[in-house]
Amino acid sequence: MDGGFLNDVAVSNIYGRITEDVLAIPAKSRQFSPLVPGSVSLDEQEPASLDTITVLAPAATVERRAVLALALRALRPGAPYTMLAPKDKGGSRLGADLRAFGCGFDEVGRRHHRVCTGIRPAALTGIEEAIAMGASRWIEAIGAWSRPGVFSWDRLDPGSALLTHHLPGLAGRGADLGCGIGVLARAVLASPKVSEITLIDVDRRAVEATRRNVEDPRAVFRWGDVRRDGAGLTGLDFVVMNPPFHDGGTEDRSLGQGFIERAAQALRPGGRCWLTANRHLPYEGVLKPLFRTVQPVADAAGYKVISAQK
Ligand SMILES: C[S@@+](CC[C@H](N)C(=O)[O-])C[C@H]1O[C@@H](n2cnc3c(N)ncnc32)[C@H](O)[C@@H]1O
Repeated sequence: MDGGFLNDVAVSNIYGRITEDVLAIPAKSRQFSPLVPGSVSLDEQEPASLDTITVLAPAATVERRAVLALALRALRPGAPYTMLAPKDKGGSRLGADLRAFGCGFDEVGRRHHRVCTGIRPAALTGIEEAIAMGASRWIEAIGAWSRPGVFSWDRLDPGSALLTHHLPGLAGRGADLGCGIGVLARAVLASPKVSEITLIDVDRRAVEATRRNVEDPRAVFRWGDVRRDGAGLTGLDFVVMNPPFHDGGTEDRSLGQGFIERAAQALRPGGRCWLTANRHLPYEGVLKPLFRTVQPVADAAGYKVISAQK
């Protein structure tokens, strides 16, 4: 069934990038997604303070339940909500999640999404548990603070591990583009010759974790999109990165390309980019026109490390 009436829903608080074909969003909406730099944090939103919210729920189960629970906690009892997700990325389980929290709702299909609309009940069940499951915590296996939703949140990514293994002692000023929880920057900062490193990520949760994980006066933290907000980075001696190649769960190679272009702009002549990636990603072709030399450094277990000199 197609929920045509949904175009009339007044949306003033939203979580996630919802496209117009799925739901009409008022131009002046307040964004709560941690993936939108400058957005407000649902974690910090006063309980029962919002009059409405529309959530494009994440696909991963623990993260999705935590986001739905945070959104319901932030709503005042009696306030309307719209929760939606693509059918194959959590949408088929959205109704069960909401029912478990004690919510009644109408559910429709729209443009490959499941869309649930309802009123926040006075009493909710199980939301504190769901919020706790999605909260920040110390992960012993990686010796770092992390939380569900950030990249490789509870294990060391094999590509990042390969890069840290092959990284020489770096020197001077540099950047960790798409820093995640700070795994690469921590390895870089082991070198006393590093004077400064800028860590930038589009995910507020990653930047928050990284601030706790990288307690070093040489580290500068930025919550932003590398492609847009990395423009001030110039004259760097080095860049390290494990570029993202998924946007909203879909493979998007242009993201990695944008990261490589930003690295090339940020480096001084002679500066070096250290990059790790899944072996199948054809970054060499993107690097070659932008860098003087492009050297394979390591190739193991489906991952590769490349060093490119500007
Ligand atoms: C493959 S992960 C690598 C994380 C970390 N460097 C590591 O090695 O564990 C890529 C990171 O890039 C971030 N990211 C994705 N798109 C971005 C963008 N446009 N600007 C900045 N960061 C972005 C993701 O949030 C993620 O933390």
